[in-house]
Amino acid sequence: MSTHNVWTHKGTFLLAAVGSAVGLGNLWRFPYLAGENGGGAFILIYALTIFAVGIPILIAETMLGRASRRSPIMGMQFLTRTHKTSRAWVSIGWMGAAAAFLILSFYSVIAGWALHYTWLMLTGTLVGADAATIASGFDALLASPGLLTLYHTLFIIASGVIVGMGIHKGIESGLRIMMPALFVILLVVLAYGIANGDFAAAASFLFTFNLGDLSLEGWLEAMGQSFFTLSLGMGAIMAYGAYMASDASLSRTAFAVAFVDTAVAMVAGLAIFSLVFGAGLDAAAGPGLMFVTLPLAFAEMPFGGLIGGVFFILVLGAAISSSISLIEPVAAFLVERFDLTRPQAVFAMVVASWALGLLTVVSFNLWAEASLFHTLFGRSAFDLIELLTNILMPLGGLLIALFAGWALTQSEVMKEMRTSEAWFQVWRFLVRFVAPAAVAFVFLRTIPLVEGYLLPAIGALIIVGAFAAGRTMLAGSGQAQ
Ligand code: TRP
Repeated sequence: MSTHNVWTHKGTFLLAAVGSAVGLGNLWRFPYLAGENGGGAFILIYALTIFAVGIPILIAETMLGRASRRSPIMGMQFLTRTHKTSRAWVSIGWMGAAAAFLILSFYSVIAGWALHYTWLMLTGTLVGADAATIASGFDALLASPGLLTLYHTLFIIASGVIVGMGIHKGIESGLRIMMPALFVILLVVLAYGIANGDFAAAASFLFTFNLGDLSLEGWLEAMGQSFFTLSLGMGAIMAYGAYMASDASLSRTAFAVAFVDTAVAMVAGLAIFSLVFGAGLDAAAGPGLMFVTLPLAFAEMPFGGLIGGVFFILVLGAAISSSISLIEPVAAFLVERFDLTRPQAVFAMVVASWALGLLTVVSFNLWAEASLFHTLFGRSAFDLIELLTNILMPLGGLLIALFAGWALTQSEVMKEMRTSEAWFQVWRFLVRFVAPAAVAFVFLRTIPLVEGYLLPAIGALIIVGAFAAGRTMLAGSGQAQ
């Protein structure tokens, strides 16, 4: 059974995909990773990966959704049947669903922190506060399982309600209000950063390329980030692609999504680092950049409470427009497969992901360093879940590229792409060779560089398994009539 739902407007897919792509990855993760990895050099690798690897896979993933017009798992079943390929490719759908579920669980907890800071900023609690006060405030938030759970719960309910209202009334209408507002806020914060901060220092930090600054770890992190930021490899884009108008251009849309997503990351980076440098603070603060360094900058600046509050509302909105795209693929699957109503399906997905999120909550307090979990796995539950998603997303992207480039009937792909022969050949070369090679390289990061003993083993098994499966599948698709 297929849903055969289509977005109300031709441009809605673009809106929805940008909503999915622009999120905590752009506003929180990108600036702190760039800050830790020397700025410009990191950005160079990040941008190159987006254009050479991200866009081709984005096109492939959207195409799989539109060609099947089903939720990712059902869609993959449909495509393997109609293109007579190995059924093993359906694992792309299952892995994507697993990744969506895992990402949502921690994404919601972190977005919850932004809820806390929106409140602190708008009530003016932090105005004039010093570094020690702000840092200990953040530590106190992380030390409180109750508070973290409260925010996590509020955030995930808000996301669930939007998806539960359906793709037209919920997702489309929500995005149509949220996305323009987010761009306006981003520009306001940038203008504020230019007026009150050190824009020149920010620009030179972000755009001075010195590849020597970049460690191998930095390279790999930049490539991993380009997957994360485009929401690739886990079915979110496929699920939205299933509702895409048949006559919209896959390639042009993918370019637009990647361009807007990159532009938002750059503008956010410029705004944040203007404020951070303007206040004489350190760029390499890690994950605390947004929650400790930035609030400190706001605390010292005129109208900091107000603009800071507006900034954290931006973070929340961007996070919600992403989290709804994490719920959609799984919810749509439950509706198609088990005939649940949409609210029932969303409820099931959200409750399960919420419960898993409690593991992330306790990672910062009850189950931090000395706990049994930490001893068993050599890391906190949050780090473990993040690591798993860092394996699943590139792996999903790799398999999507291989499936689209090698397994599908290429004449059908060409028809779906509706582009010139020349661009089709370029795209196919990228998904067949360049993207898989690049992704294999990203795996270097997840496998040998992680300390601990359990995960490297699991990771190695997954990779070997994937390659073995890939080979069998390729052999299988060669024999297909
Ligand atoms: N792209 C999102 C961001 O930058 C994060 C993300 C990764 C995501 N994978 C996703 C969002 C899948 C939705 C669906 O914040």
